[in-house]
Amino acid sequence: MSVPARSDRAAPNSPVEERAIAAFVRSHGSAPLAIASAPGRVNLIGDHTDYAGGLVLPMAIEERTAVALSPSADARTRIESIELGARAVVESPAAFEPRAPDAPDAWTNFVMGPLRMLADGALAPGPVPLPALSISVASDVPIGAGLSSSASLATATATAALALARRSFGHWALVRLLQAAEARFAGTPCGIMDMTVALTAAPGAALLIDCGVPSIEPVPLPEALALLLVDSGIRHRLTDGGYAERRRELALAATDPRFEPRSRHVRTENERVRRAVAALRAGDVRALGAIAFESHDSLRHDFEVSVPGVDRIVDLVREGGAAHGALGARMTGGGFGGNVVVFVERARIDGARAFLHGALASLSGVRIREVRPGHRYTSRIERGAP
Ligand code: GLA
Repeated sequence: MSVPARSDRAAPNSPVEERAIAAFVRSHGSAPLAIASAPGRVNLIGDHTDYAGGLVLPMAIEERTAVALSPSADARTRIESIELGARAVVESPAAFEPRAPDAPDAWTNFVMGPLRMLADGALAPGPVPLPALSISVASDVPIGAGLSSSASLATATATAALALARRSFGHWALVRLLQAAEARFAGTPCGIMDMTVALTAAPGAALLIDCGVPSIEPVPLPEALALLLVDSGIRHRLTDGGYAERRRELALAATDPRFEPRSRHVRTENERVRRAVAALRAGDVRALGAIAFESHDSLRHDFEVSVPGVDRIVDLVREGGAAHGALGARMTGGGFGGNVVVFVERARIDGARAFLHGALASLSGVRIREVRPGHRYTSRIERGAP
C-alpha cells in the first residue's frame, strides 16, 4: 500500500480540520494550500512490546490532530498551535535544529522533526524539497494522556507536507521516518505502533501489528463490545526518561537477572495479544476483560510503568465492575499516568458508566467517556497549486 499525495477529495473536513483552516485564515489572510489530519489511538493490549518486535493491538480514535500549511512568503517557518496557545518562528525545514526539551519552543520539535527528516531524505526514496512554511495546528487529542497525541501531530504534519509536495510514499518508509524523527527531535526512542495505526487504521476495527515483520491485520470489533476510557488526570511526558529507561532495561535483561521481569512482561504480553485477538474474533468480552486485567498486572509489577492513581482505577473495576458489565481494565500506552481502557458489555454500557461514576467519585480529576473507532489519516490539497 502506498500513501497517496492526495486522497479523498470528496471527504468532508472533520471539525478539527475546520478549526485548523479557520486559524490559518485568521493568521495569514488566505486559505492553506494543504490540509491533513491523523487520529490518536487507544491501545487495547500489547504495551511496551512494539520496540521489542512484538505484537500490539491499537485502535484509532475519533479525536484527531489537523495541520494546515502553505509555503511562507520568506525564509522563516511560522507555526501556531491552537491548543497550546503558542506561536513560534523557526528556520526552514532543511535548516531546522532540535530544540532542547526545556526550551520555550521545544514543542516545535514535534512539527519540525518530521519536516526536517523529509527534507533530508534520510529514510525516504529521496529528499522531499520543502520551502519555509506557514503552519496552523489544531487538535482534540489530549496531550500526555497515553493516546498518542505526538504521533497524530507528526503524522498529520508529514502527510500535509507530502500533499503539498505532491509526493507519494510507501507507508512503512513513512512509519520509519516518523519513528526516527521522534527519537532524534522529541527524544523518545519509541516503537512503530502509534504512527502505523495513524497511517493505516481500518474502519470499525483494531489493528493487529506484528512489529517484528512488520505486518498489519485489521481485527473487527464485535458488536458486543463497548470501550470506556477513564482519564486519570495524571499527565506524563515520555521525554521524562522512564520510557527510555525501561527500554534500556529490557535490552539488558538477557544478561542481567535483575531485569528478567522486563523480558517476562514482553513474552507474556505477546501471548495475551494473541489470546485477545481470539477473544475479539469470538465476540467473548468476558475473556477479553480477564486478559486486560492480566496485562495491567504485568505492566504494573513486571514492567513497572504504571502509577498508583492508575492502579486504583483498575482495582476499582476489578472489585466491583463485573456486576455492571465492566469486565476488564488496563492502562493504555506508554504509562506513568494517562488513561485506563475499560472493556464493557455493549448492552450494559449505561450501568457500567454509572458504576464507574460512583466508584471513582472520590478521585479528583478523573473523566469517563466512551471511545469509538476513528479513521486513519487524510490529506489533500485545499486549493490550487502555487
Ligand atoms: C508509546 C510509544 C509506543 C509504544 C507505547 C507503549 O506510545 O510511542 O511506541 O512503545 O508507548 O506500548
